Amino acid sequence: MHEHAMPYKKIVFVCVNQRPPGERVCCAGGGGVVLYAKLKNMIKERGLRGRIRVSKAGCLDRCEDGPNIMVFPDNVWYSHVAEADLEPLVMRLVESLRAEGQLPRNYGG
Ligand code: FES
Repeated sequence: MHEHAMPYKKIVFVCVNQRPPGERVCCAGGGGVVLYAKLKNMIKERGLRGRIRVSKAGCLDRCEDGPNIMVFPDNVWYSHVAEADLEPLVMRLVESLRAEGQLPRNYGG
């Protein structure tokens, strides 16, 4: 095992868990897979891929509050996320990176 510093400034976990119909609700049923794909694309388009990693998560056991997204190391949890929330979510990530001095001064994304 090799231990080292986190290779990303932030990791955004998007729950994409899918359950069969008739079982407990799931984030995929609420659009989690689409949210994951769109968020990943937004991070790429804004040149943030080396700083922010968007990853799929399995069930986080907050299914009734889904779709769920959590951000590390910010310790922020977003629930009931809709596509319209992604832009403000990305803006918060950018603001957080900026406050931490993790973006170039001239970053305009
Ligand atoms: S399915 Fe997403 S939290 Fe359980």
